[in-house]
Amino acid sequence: MLKDSLDLMKLKKQLQILLEDKLDSELLNKLPSGYSIIGDIAIFRHINQELNYYKQDIGNIVIDIDSQVNVVVEQFSTDSNYRKPQIIHLAGEKRTTTKHKEYSTIFNIDVAKITFSSGNKGERGYLINTVKNNEIIVDMFACAGNLSLPIVKNNSTVKCYGIEMNVEAYSFLERNIEENKIKDRYFPILGDNRDKTPKDIASRVLMGYFECDVSQLVRAVNAINKEGWIHYHTIIQRGRIEDAVKTVTSQIKSLKYEFSIKEKRQIKKFSPRLIHYCFDCFVQK
Ligand SMILES: C[S@@+](CC[C@H](N)C(=O)[O-])C[C@H]1O[C@@H](n2cnc3c(N)ncnc32)[C@H](O)[C@@H]1O
Repeated sequence: MLKDSLDLMKLKKQLQILLEDKLDSELLNKLPSGYSIIGDIAIFRHINQELNYYKQDIGNIVIDIDSQVNVVVEQFSTDSNYRKPQIIHLAGEKRTTTKHKEYSTIFNIDVAKITFSSGNKGERGYLINTVKNNEIIVDMFACAGNLSLPIVKNNSTVKCYGIEMNVEAYSFLERNIEENKIKDRYFPILGDNRDKTPKDIASRVLMGYFECDVSQLVRAVNAINKEGWIHYHTIIQRGRIEDAVKTVTSQIKSLKYEFSIKEKRQIKKFSPRLIHYCFDCFVQK
């Protein structure tokens, strides 16, 4: 009975009920209110440090109340160009690999080695619905195929070149291409996209990385064949969107191609001040 009524409550309330004998009211208020799930791994971000001593209890409760979860970890900020996440194990099986299924696509992922944002699920759905038949995609920051695999899996007329420079992420990409049976239409490329981005080929280029430089945007434009779209992801401070638009457009001024930002889509909130946007840019050569 307790279990049934707990199921209907938000996580924080559930944790508060199950930990009320151990924590004082101040700590009960600091309990986390949610986690993301990749495959069967629950991922907490930034649990309050004052709860350090109780993190394993929190993890064990999640294993008890969420039948989808077999592993609970905490993730700290991702590190370096390769975006390698910092992970600590809290409860359940001691592994960080999992198989995640989304939009009929299988992702083999190691949450300690590569980034995969469940907050980008809407964007993955958007891309599946937006891409037209026979398009050629270039994913300049492919990782394990996070943004581009579902497009190719869900449209049998689409082809994709996915570039990834981190050998570990690349090996997951290769495995995911194989397991989703799209080897004939998804072509992985190992290396730096500054050297490896193909030219004059794409109808659409994905730039799913926040720290790219001008030379990479130029390569994205050069990858477009005659005309097409660049999906440029960026983090913007609330209220500063027009500054970001100016920065992007001034970066490619020297190219003398038609370039316009047709839409600025909010993908997710990072913090009260920082928002992840995607600029949908149309290029005509
Ligand atoms: C933050 S992940 C994003 C993955 C995916 N695009 C998404 O939005 O979910 C960025 C990936 O780009 C790769 N990367 C960063 N710089 C790169 C470069 N110059 N050339 C190729 N890959 C790069 C990193 O190794 C990492 O796997």
